[in-house]
Amino acid sequence: MCGIVGYVGDKQAYPIIIKGLKRLEYRGYDSAGVSIGNKDGILVLKEKGKVADLEAYAADRDSTGSIGIGHTRWATHGVPNQVNAHPHLSGDGKLSLIHNGIIENYDSIKQTLISKGHTFKSDTDTEVLVHLIEYFKEKEQVNLFEAVRLALNHVVGAYAIIVMEQGINNEFIAARKGSPLLIGIGKGEYFVASDASPIVEYTREVVYLGDGEIARINKDEELDIKTIANMSKTPFIEELELSLEAIEKGGFSSFMLKEIFEQPKSVIDTLRGRINPETKEITLGGISDYEQKIMNADRIIIVACGTSWHAGLIGEYLFEDLARISVEVEYASEFRYRNPIINENDVVLAISQSGETADSLAALELAKEKGATLLGICNVVGSSIPRLTHAGSYTHAGPEIGVASTKAFTTQIIVLTLMAIKMAHKKGTITMKKYHEIITELELIPEKIEKILKKNDQIEKIAAEFKDATNFLYLGRGYNFPVALEGALKLKEISYIHAEGYPAAEMKHGPIALIDDEMPIVIIATKKGNYDKVLSNIQEVKARGGRLIAIVTEGDKTVKELADYCIEVPDCLDELSPLLTNIPLQLLSYHIALMRGCNVDMPRNLAKSVTVE
Ligand code: AGP
Ligand code: GLU
Repeated sequence: MCGIVGYVGDKQAYPIIIKGLKRLEYRGYDSAGVSIGNKDGILVLKEKGKVADLEAYAADRDSTGSIGIGHTRWATHGVPNQVNAHPHLSGDGKLSLIHNGIIENYDSIKQTLISKGHTFKSDTDTEVLVHLIEYFKEKEQVNLFEAVRLALNHVVGAYAIIVMEQGINNEFIAARKGSPLLIGIGKGEYFVASDASPIVEYTREVVYLGDGEIARINKDEELDIKTIANMSKTPFIEELELSLEAIEKGGFSSFMLKEIFEQPKSVIDTLRGRINPETKEITLGGISDYEQKIMNADRIIIVACGTSWHAGLIGEYLFEDLARISVEVEYASEFRYRNPIINENDVVLAISQSGETADSLAALELAKEKGATLLGICNVVGSSIPRLTHAGSYTHAGPEIGVASTKAFTTQIIVLTLMAIKMAHKKGTITMKKYHEIITELELIPEKIEKILKKNDQIEKIAAEFKDATNFLYLGRGYNFPVALEGALKLKEISYIHAEGYPAAEMKHGPIALIDDEMPIVIIATKKGNYDKVLSNIQEVKARGGRLIAIVTEGDKTVKELADYCIEVPDCLDELSPLLTNIPLQLLSYHIALMRGCNVDMPRNLAKSVTVE
């Protein structure tokens, strides 16, 4: 996955790159490294661990130079150590390269290059690429721009790369296919990065490099872009909308906590301008031309991964229950490889915070080949999924930096709800009364979330009771079954406690065997779901001694008698309850992880956007 940054101009490159890498650290933090070009050549500094480790390592080195590239790694090929850290050098040491992605045919290229006398220092796929560029540069006696192009013609896989050359201190080459890359245009300077966060402080003018494009970036010249097939391209300059405040912690100790607490505002931002205050009509501008298509679709196939997949499951309940449109929810990674039946009357909807998840993108590509209509629900504006789909809606949650998805999930559900009731209204599958009831409730969600967030201290105390548990079971039914899955995922990814989510009724088909007086069970038991059925499940747990944490509707007395701990959420329609019940589960995981000394923003082995398979 990795984050990459490049700078060429008149300023000192090192501090700009380090700052940029810190903003991109959510993409990977196995190792970090920089190459800085100056009159003495290329200085390469790299270290295992986080960007702060690199800084400490580089503290007494002279990093002067006004051209440089930097990388924060999420290892795919080769263990996370200093040797495998990027940048990687060509055999003669004159080229330095950073890479985000996977070179799938690296082994065959490596064997060919070895037979031609190349030797390799690292176990990475990336090092092979810089040697290949060197090979073409020498063999064809061409400049770096052309050598990169020739090399990329032989590469299978995904990449965003920047390559610089010793002695050339005003220019580097960037290219991408499958992994994101954008170029910020300043006055006599350029910035290159995996996303806009390292750039926004310096310029708002950006060019999103297209798939299969290569750019020659010279501080004294206009951008020069061509395709791998050698076609010239005119750069399309866009204006960034991202604000700097939105990507900083704003007084919170972690991005995750900030993002949890931002949710009332994020929901307001997601709803903004989408519900007419007088008529209560819903406008989703991004999909308005495709409404008919969605209404008449044979089915909607939702493709997503992780938390976004859980949001997709809630979407399935919403679309089927309210709009009577048949929905299938698929793990994008499975869907893309199992020869699925897709036809032209299907709508394939990808849900993704980052808009860059490799499996979700590949699932869309497959659906595109089969002629389906492609839709997206994404958070990152201008990312690859919105670019690939025919239409879509942004969640407008603002940047989500914490690796654990929180506000993105909540706002994905908001967009799914808007889509589902819009379709239901158009199809006449819900009454006007029901339509207005849902809209009225939807508008109350931000203040209800606000109320739940006030229970943070209570949730922290509950977390203290359970922080040493080794397993957790999360149970829910109906609309709250996906919330149980999401609660379990949140706990395992940031606290490293094993957790399983289950439909509450499935418990007796297996997981009940796990329950003893050590086992914490989180159960969602709000009034408007299958309350009575959930009550029976609670009794079943109690009878086996399990320790119960229940998420209940305000004022519930029955569950309070049975559960060890209850966290109240305001009353609301069953269809909208996941928007509330998921909030205490986020806070519970957050506090447990913190008490266990875990880094909640950067959990081990993970990265924010999974741009590799
Ligand atoms: C969520 O907390 C995860 N870290 C992860 O499951 C994530 O939701 C998944 O990788 C999908 O990402 P996307 O929404 O950016 O496509
Ligand atoms: N494949 C490269 C490596 O392992 C880059 C990894 C990535 O982009 O995630 O170093």
